[in-house]
Amino acid sequence: MSEFIPVLTKKEIDAQVSHIAQVISADYKDRELILIGILKGAFIFLSDLIRQLSIPVKVDFMCAASYGGSTASSGRIKLSKDVDIDIHNKDVLIVEDIVDTGHTLKYLMGLFESHRAASVKTAALVRKAERAEVDVIVDYLGFDIGDEWVVGYGLDYAEQNRTLPYIGVVTPDDA
Ligand code: IMP
Ligand code: MG
Repeated sequence: MSEFIPVLTKKEIDAQVSHIAQVISADYKDRELILIGILKGAFIFLSDLIRQLSIPVKVDFMCAASYGGSTASSGRIKLSKDVDIDIHNKDVLIVEDIVDTGHTLKYLMGLFESHRAASVKTAALVRKAERAEVDVIVDYLGFDIGDEWVVGYGLDYAEQNRTLPYIGVVTPDDA
């Protein structure tokens, strides 16, 4: 497997995921929280996060994509799997891998609000703040990074490199 320049080490990621889990556990104590992982990229972040929570939660998934095989945002979101759990009057936490332009998260928030969830909040491991095209609040954020395409810890470039244990940057030589 290729090596990439690390942007976030496994140690940094683990520490931040533990911290976010503690904050979520405190914020949702005695509530009925449903975490919705956004496939495919968020599956590793979600699975590490839920195992560090100290409160009972339900978990479901949605599959949303705004990109084809390229690294350019289309701004259009394609849903290929919806949630199965009834979220009406429930506290929902959307768990994303990375927020780039913000279109995906904004679209998903609107969707859950229209399904009349009691509350809709967002968690993302990584955000590229300078790429934001729409205003969207990330309630639980791991890290801000610059404008670069990153892979690993669930994130892909054309379906590759999701299995790297750290997050690294793709250079033109890797692509
Ligand atoms: P947005 O709608 O532009 O915010 O795009 C969000 C989605 O694009 C994320 O859920 C990822 O699937 C994908 N994405 C954006 N930037 C990256 C990246 O650097 N690496 C891998 N996937 C990315
Ligand atoms: Mg994604």
